[in-house]
Amino acid sequence: MPTVLALETSCDESAAAVVCLAEGKMAVLASTIASQVEEHARWGGVVPEIASRRHVEALPGLIDQALKASGLSWDQLDAVAATIAPGLAGALMVASVTGRTLAALHGRPFIGVHHLEGHLASVRLAEGCQDPPYVVLLVSGGHTELIRVEPDGAMRRLGRSHDDAAGEAFDKVARLLGLGYPGGPAIQEVAVEGDRRRFPLPKGRISLPGGGFHPYDFSFSGLKTAMLRTVERLQADREPLPLADLAASFEQVVADVLVERSLRCVADEGLNHLVMVGGVAANTCLRRTMQAQAEARGVAVSIAPLAYCTDNAAMIGAAALARLQRGAAVSSLEIGVSARWPLEQSTDLYAFPPPF
Ligand code: KG4
Ligand code: ZN
Repeated sequence: MPTVLALETSCDESAAAVVCLAEGKMAVLASTIASQVEEHARWGGVVPEIASRRHVEALPGLIDQALKASGLSWDQLDAVAATIAPGLAGALMVASVTGRTLAALHGRPFIGVHHLEGHLASVRLAEGCQDPPYVVLLVSGGHTELIRVEPDGAMRRLGRSHDDAAGEAFDKVARLLGLGYPGGPAIQEVAVEGDRRRFPLPKGRISLPGGGFHPYDFSFSGLKTAMLRTVERLQADREPLPLADLAASFEQVVADVLVERSLRCVADEGLNHLVMVGGVAANTCLRRTMQAQAEARGVAVSIAPLAYCTDNAAMIGAAALARLQRGAAVSSLEIGVSARWPLEQSTDLYAFPPPF
């Protein structure tokens, strides 16, 4: 029963988890998270220097808590995993150095994990998730992508955002509406009572050089501008801002665009299984719209459990175990961190000599 201690510090959540693989199923034995959101909220976004310092303070205690909660001792752990790319370089360094140090100290292999591979693996923590092939809609603060995953773990990107990621759009629109950071949960809360069709908003499309539109690519910057113009118009008319209707209309158009293009992509690929992961996958409107539309078209949907949509260490453990399941996956203890690294090249994290 392979068991790993996993660490995550790539952005503004410090996290540690113990995850095991038994009879092909992943189980989270412990998962601890310390969010820095409140501290960054007053700056309106993540301040990298503050993030690194808070990770240094929080991570040792989180590791202790996770180990205690799992009831395991070091001789029952097979490996140490940590996110090493992509993310904020200084923040990534904390889990990378801590993970490699613990691995060396206890004589265990170190498994460096690509953060997005972690998000992709988070669905393995959902009840009854089937194996690939499937198309994954990855919607986080930094990425909006459609990725085809094969049974052997190979990944191919089929669609992406050309400007803002969906989560970034939530964060920017929340700021515009004065709703605070992070924007996703704030918009969701205000939108509950809102009229989802009151404000017609654009479904940003990407033109193709030969005419027509890219079927699965996204653009959210036009939507952000449309929200700004709508707010300006309402303010010029001296009307109080109908925050609930604005938030609900925005949330619904984002959900509609993500759902329509993802389901088209699944159909064009000749598949009938869609997976949804990442921070924005926590959005109730998106989860409901996706489930209803997919069901109507006979497509199976697996969504990461709510607790593992936003950044956490359990998903990093799941990605490490999935690598181990497919064969040897050991990173060099000399490996560092990389602020940018393509998901398609994540196998390089197990190369000797290491790529960075
Ligand atoms: O996956 P994540 O925790 O971090 C990245 O790897 O980016 O995603 C964070 C993003 C933020 O933009 C946040 O506003 C968004 O996920 N988010 C949500 C919700 N919860 C978090 N967006 C919409 N609805 C939510 N409930
Ligand atoms: Zn993330």
